[in-house]
Amino acid sequence: MNKSDLTILLASPRGFCAGVDRAIEIVERALVKHGAPVYVRHEIVHNRYVVESLEQKGAVFVQELDQVPEGLPVIFSAHGVPKSVPAAAQARELLYFDATCPLVSKVHREAERHEKDGRQVILIGHAGHPEVIGTMGQLSDGSIVLVETEEDAENLIVEDPDNLAFVTQTTLSVDDTASIVKVLIRRFPNMLEPKKEDICYATTNRQEAVKAIATRCDALLVIGAPNSSNSKRLVEVAYKQGCEKAALVQRATDIKWDALNGVKTLGITAGASAPEILVEEVINAFKEHYNVSIEEINIRNENVVFKVPKTLLDTPTAKD
Ligand code: F3S
Repeated sequence: MNKSDLTILLASPRGFCAGVDRAIEIVERALVKHGAPVYVRHEIVHNRYVVESLEQKGAVFVQELDQVPEGLPVIFSAHGVPKSVPAAAQARELLYFDATCPLVSKVHREAERHEKDGRQVILIGHAGHPEVIGTMGQLSDGSIVLVETEEDAENLIVEDPDNLAFVTQTTLSVDDTASIVKVLIRRFPNMLEPKKEDICYATTNRQEAVKAIATRCDALLVIGAPNSSNSKRLVEVAYKQGCEKAALVQRATDIKWDALNGVKTLGITAGASAPEILVEEVINAFKEHYNVSIEEINIRNENVVFKVPKTLLDTPTAKD
């Protein structure tokens, strides 16, 4: 069978960010230091492949802290946790490691500072996402107001319009968030903004990289999980650039080949929790169907690294 030609535009940066690297390293180092099993509350990062790889090494993933047996270590996921979770771990004298991304912790500290200064905190984010639950759980119950859309921003009722501050989820659409912020600032001109953008560098870079290729692509695949916020935003960004055949795939088996009939240029990227091995798997699947040529479009180099907790640093990992 004659294969047709396909150009793959590979977005860069893509895939793992510094927070995901750190969270996975924390689990790996805890397993070496304390031996299996090590418990992890929630998916350490939103990716089945990563979770299953860690399960094979002896990690046990649970939904709630009370599923962790006495005396075994537990790790909190990269998305962050409400304050009640470490408090409950301390009450049970569990050894815990917090894999919350430092850029999520930064948002937590901002929210706390605003509360201490007597301001009402508005959080722009998606209801039900673990990061939003974690950030809302930094302050006393119910005191953070969640805004998900421009409509929410238009209808928001606040106690004191001159005593407000907002923070955001780190993995939002840069453009959608800017529109929501615009509405809030028009309505509440004295509202305080974060000194440094809360949407993280990795989210921003991956969205910009998609923008750089989407207009040249007949279709674009984002490798990522359906519960990964930053991955879903990448699909939306591609759509908004006019690339209507944009879709999320977890791995090669998810590719809908019929939907790609006639595609000559395909964009590929990966969300911040998707490992490069899955990008390679998808590209190899395309090589079986097409004569593939690959062009990597790099919009920016990333060199961010987050350190793991000191107590785990004396533990070697496969990377050492
Ligand atoms: Fe952190 Fe951003 Fe990654 S918040 S976990 S660096 S997507």
